[in-house]
Amino acid sequence: MSERVSVAKTVSGDAYDIVIESDFGKLAEEIAKLPVKGRKCLIVTDSNVGPLYLQEVSDAITPIFDSVYAMQIPAGEENKNLDTVRTVLVKLISAHFDRKDFILALGGGVVGDLAGFASSVYLRGIKFIQVPTTLLAQTDSSIGGKTGVDFDAYKNMVGAFHQPSLVYMNTSVLKTLSGRDFASGMGEILKHGLIRDEGYYSWLVNNFNEITDREPEVLEHMIAGSCEIKAAVVEEDPTEQGVRAILNFGHTLGHAIERYMNFSFTHGECVALGSVAAAWISYKRGNLSDMEFYEIRDMFVPFGLPITLPDDADAKKILEISKSDKKMDGKKVKFILLKEPGKAVIDTTVTEDEMLDALQQLIITEN
Ligand SMILES: NC(=O)c1ccc[n+]([C@@H]2O[C@H](COP(=O)([O-])OP(=O)(O)OC[C@H]3O[C@@H](n4cnc5c(N)ncnc54)[C@H](O)[C@@H]3O)[C@@H](O)[C@H]2O)c1
Ligand SMILES: [Zn+2]
Repeated sequence: MSERVSVAKTVSGDAYDIVIESDFGKLAEEIAKLPVKGRKCLIVTDSNVGPLYLQEVSDAITPIFDSVYAMQIPAGEENKNLDTVRTVLVKLISAHFDRKDFILALGGGVVGDLAGFASSVYLRGIKFIQVPTTLLAQTDSSIGGKTGVDFDAYKNMVGAFHQPSLVYMNTSVLKTLSGRDFASGMGEILKHGLIRDEGYYSWLVNNFNEITDREPEVLEHMIAGSCEIKAAVVEEDPTEQGVRAILNFGHTLGHAIERYMNFSFTHGECVALGSVAAAWISYKRGNLSDMEFYEIRDMFVPFGLPITLPDDADAKKILEISKSDKKMDGKKVKFILLKEPGKAVIDTTVTEDEMLDALQQLIITEN
């Protein structure tokens, strides 16, 4: 089984394909559709993914490029920074890459965001291929052209819109992903259903056994579903002037929690917590019924995601951190609420009291 989703409208106007396969068998064939003849390619991967998949990917693409180079960055969010970007740029310069050459990101969201950013600034932009290897990267971060790195403790503070020329995913690499990283991807996937597609959300809920058992056909269907939702939203609004902001559902408070917890929680865990908080505010405003709110909240649990913060967490501190987040519209926070399950709205009237109340709900341990 294989699937293909296209992103037709991008910032640069260049369309690209998202190819979903269960092996690397068609990788070279797909890349060969791009202007690669006589070009160089630098594969950027990390210290976990490299030992598992670099050789296979490198062997597959060597025949179609003039030369293929590879580098491994140390794994982990703490390495998604400008120092690591520098090491990539040094490699590109020393190998005399020019503007028509390629970078291929082989890894999760950290590698994709970082290698994508390096490719956006090197010589004002070189071509870039995403080969995402985590569930989060296959359903979210590899699509839409947002690239960037963290700066000091600020998430994604430095970045650029830079579209990939191709996104190629091999779903079988998910076999080696840890349970915690698999769950992290589910945070974004459940978000996609909640903000845009009730039918997809219900399908996720009804198939949670097959999903958590990582049944290949079910995973492929789920990944294609999420890619379609993300691609549709970013096509409508490539540079986030409006509707694209709904993808930030759960992220305003989620990013603050990520920083408050010193990145000891995964991105998807924080998105889950932020989503529960945003659903709480939606419920308090009368958009969701009692039952709808509790169903949404409790559905994160079977997918391995948290719905409460540690007992001693400081809601006020998290709120303070969220105020320094960049997703603001002037002085107003651009908050994403649910109008109903499957439909999100952008709201600039959410007050600090509402956010504090929602954070406190996460700290009250319920039975
Ligand atoms: N650009 C965007 O639109 C966007 C969207 C969402 C998230 N993000 C970013 O993505 C990042 C999180 O991405 P992530 O969750 O993929 O994290 P990650 O890249 O750190 O990957 C998680 C862990 O899994 C390992 N790994 C990757 N693939 C593997 C595989 N197939 N088998 C075994 N181990 C594997 C990695 O080495 C790492 O240790 C965050 O920095 C977040 O800000 C970006
Ligand atoms: Zn996210």
